[in-house]
Amino acid sequence: MASGPDLSIELLGQRLQNPVIEAAGTFGEEYSELIDFRKLGALVPKTISLEPHCGSPPPRLVETPAGLLNFVGGDNPGVKKFIEEHLPRWRRYGIPIIVGLRGHRGPDEYVRIASCFKRGMGVMALELNFKFMSDCSSISDTVSRCTQATDLPIIAKLRPAGVIMTEMALAAESGGAAAISLVNTIPAMVIDVERQVPELPLGAGLSGPAIRPIALKMVWDVYEAVKVPVIGMGGVADWRSALEYILAGASAVAVGTAMFSNPYAAIETIDGIRDYMVRHGVMRVTDLVGLAHRNLRAQSALKGGA
Ligand SMILES: Cc1cc2nc3c(=O)[nH]c(=O)nc-3n(C[C@H](O)[C@H](O)[C@H](O)COP(=O)(O)O)c2cc1C
Repeated sequence: MASGPDLSIELLGQRLQNPVIEAAGTFGEEYSELIDFRKLGALVPKTISLEPHCGSPPPRLVETPAGLLNFVGGDNPGVKKFIEEHLPRWRRYGIPIIVGLRGHRGPDEYVRIASCFKRGMGVMALELNFKFMSDCSSISDTVSRCTQATDLPIIAKLRPAGVIMTEMALAAESGGAAAISLVNTIPAMVIDVERQVPELPLGAGLSGPAIRPIALKMVWDVYEAVKVPVIGMGGVADWRSALEYILAGASAVAVGTAMFSNPYAAIETIDGIRDYMVRHGVMRVTDLVGLAHRNLRAQSALKGGA
């Protein structure tokens, strides 16, 4: 049998069959009726907290010209029920699972949730969702305490929030983060001019194509700054946008908002990356990670030498 291009990657000591992950909170188990989860690189279920939360009342989503504004408000079953009921169901798909978590009442809660997980539970890594934390020393400290509370690798998921992203990423890395996920939704708002109030609570965040060029530049900068792998996300909707992130330095990419309008977006992205690799004669997807940096340097060197 002729062997095709190799899409597999090594991430946090685990082999993923391809670099395409489903982004946290943007899909549910009901998607399994439409797409074959087994084809994905990994899955990140909706972020869990210590206690169950029913989330915020509707409306939770508002469409904007090129993106989606959401305030879901932490809707989740809580860590106990997640481990007992949800995790076994996610594990059935046989692909790596990254569990996202957030301590609603601060760092101690992150640590308490992290301590509920250990190797052997079928979880590849824990992703700390720092949606409402941007202070670098708190990020570093929380990551560090979570690494002591569990033997699973810790990923720090960061959100642009007025602090330079590379500083937050370096803080997470110094605390012991084994990877950085970029980006969570970007703080944004829509105002209802008839009612003359914001349409969603002030914590709402923007995702989708509108944030892609911004998130891409953050992935570019963070890739240059840290040594740990970067997982890129923000408006990934197809193979082309996924490859932008990979060329900018993302070892893996997550597809989120695109799943709302096209449930097949992640699977099509995987197929599209494969076709691209065939067209460009690329044998290993890992050869593409950060390639735009090397190409830019080679170009500058040529110009400098001319
Ligand atoms: C409706 C909605 C719910 C989300 N819920 C979560 C969540 O529970 N945990 C999390 O870490 N990120 C959550 N996110 C952020 C996404 O995982 C992703 O980081 C972000 O949307 C950027 O990617 P995208 O533009 O492809 O959606 C959510 C995004 C949306 C749109």
